[in-house]
Formats: sequence, C-alpha cells, structure tokens
Amino acid sequence: MRIYKAKDYNEMSRKAANVISAQVIIKPDCVLGLATGSSPIGTYQQLVEWYKKGDLDFSQVRTANLDEYKGLTRDNDQSYYYFMYENLFKHVNIDMANTNIPDGTNPDSAAESARYDKVVADLGGVDLQLLGIGRNGHIGFNEPDDAFAKGTHCVDLQPSTIEANKRFFASADDVPKQAYTMGIGTIMSAKKILLVVSGADKAQALYDSLRGPITPHVPGSILQLHKDVVVVADEAALSLFTDL
Ligand code: GLP
Repeated sequence: MRIYKAKDYNEMSRKAANVISAQVIIKPDCVLGLATGSSPIGTYQQLVEWYKKGDLDFSQVRTANLDEYKGLTRDNDQSYYYFMYENLFKHVNIDMANTNIPDGTNPDSAAESARYDKVVADLGGVDLQLLGIGRNGHIGFNEPDDAFAKGTHCVDLQPSTIEANKRFFASADDVPKQAYTMGIGTIMSAKKILLVVSGADKAQALYDSLRGPITPHVPGSILQLHKDVVVVADEAALSLFTDL
C-alpha cells in the first residue's frame, strides 16, 4: 500500500486525478470503478480540466459505479446517476452506453443485485476502483456489519450515514433509508484501488482502516489485504498517523 500525503483537498484531488489519468492513458478502454460523495468531486473537476485541454480521451472508457440510493430515479438531483452525469460524464467524451450504475428504481433487490454483478462481470472486472470512505469506515455503502458482503446487495443505511448524507437533502427524512452497493468482494477484485480521503472528520476512520484490525465492523480495513492500493489523503485526514 502506498500512502501519499497531500497538503489539502486540492492537492489530493490533483494527485488522485493523475493516477486515474495514467490508467486511462495506459489502457484507453479500461474499466473505471467510480465513486460519489464530496471526496472525489475535485478529482473529477481536474479530469474534466485535462480533458478540455486535450490531454485525456474517455471515448473508449467504461465505468461501473459503486452504489446508488434505492428508490431514487436518475433525474432526481440526489441520485448518484445525476451526480455522475453532472460532475463528470456530461463534461467529457464518454459514451453514456459505457457507463453503469445500479438501478435505484428497481424494487426487486435480488434481481437488481444479480443484474449489476453480471454487468461488472461482463465488463471483465474493474481495472481501477476509486473509493471514498465514510466516517464509520464504510466503503461504497458497505456499512459496518458482522460479515463482509461479497457481491452487490441492498443495504439498510446506518443512522450515522443518513445523518452524514443529510447535508445534500432538504432534511434527514428525505434521505433514502436503503441503497444498492457493490459488495466488498467486488471492490476487492479490482486490479487497483485508489482511496481519496480529506478532512479531520475522516481521520479516525482512515486510521482504523489502514492500521487497525481487519474487521467487517470497519469495512475499509479489508483494504489492507489488497495488493495494489494507493491512498491519497490530506494532512487533516492523516493526522493520526504519527509515522508519516
Ligand atoms: C457516501 C458514499 C460513499 C462515500 C462516503 C463518503 O455515503 N456512498 O461512496 O465514499 O459516503 O462521502 P463523502 O466523500 O461525501 O464524505
């Protein structure tokens, strides 16, 4: 595992975008696993800037997003589909037919989970998975639990996650209570993982994930078992690491 310490959010975003752009240049038809949330927004902005300069070409890139709220339609401005379209897809030359996100409108959890696992399998797996981390150590929407989930599944969001994500909604009551997420097994089968983390409120989750025991109660701790993880975090997020 390689840990890069950035001085702030902007530097973190630039470094992370460098890793993604290297992947796209090395393998133009690569499969990018993409994430939502405030952590990767700056990374996407940087990629868009480089695309506009002519330095990046997304025409053959394929994508698979980590997760989606259950019950939200694509045109809902809180859906992760909407997020991806607004923050990345509409600004670059990606073919929308090559983008994949769990379908939040499918009420049948078993069917949607099986469908999405097949989508990822048919893509041949993920080359580079971008990840953020929740304050409780969740990755994707894999919440702390007694076991690591393998494939895509529907999760009940924890009260702390609903609380953390309510900032994007009119009120906590408007935050969906369930979501579809790739499983830990799928995330761990990505060839390379890029974790971006910013801010003091993530310091404990990051420390527990990278230095604590490997346990499903801290889902991010499984990353210690992956052979190719790059962590790009800012000083505030790395404040508990005394050796860095
Ligand atoms: C959300 C998303 C995760 C994200 C995390 C942190 O609930 N499902 O994929 O990594 O929580 O979000 P943020 O980057 O906004 O802090």
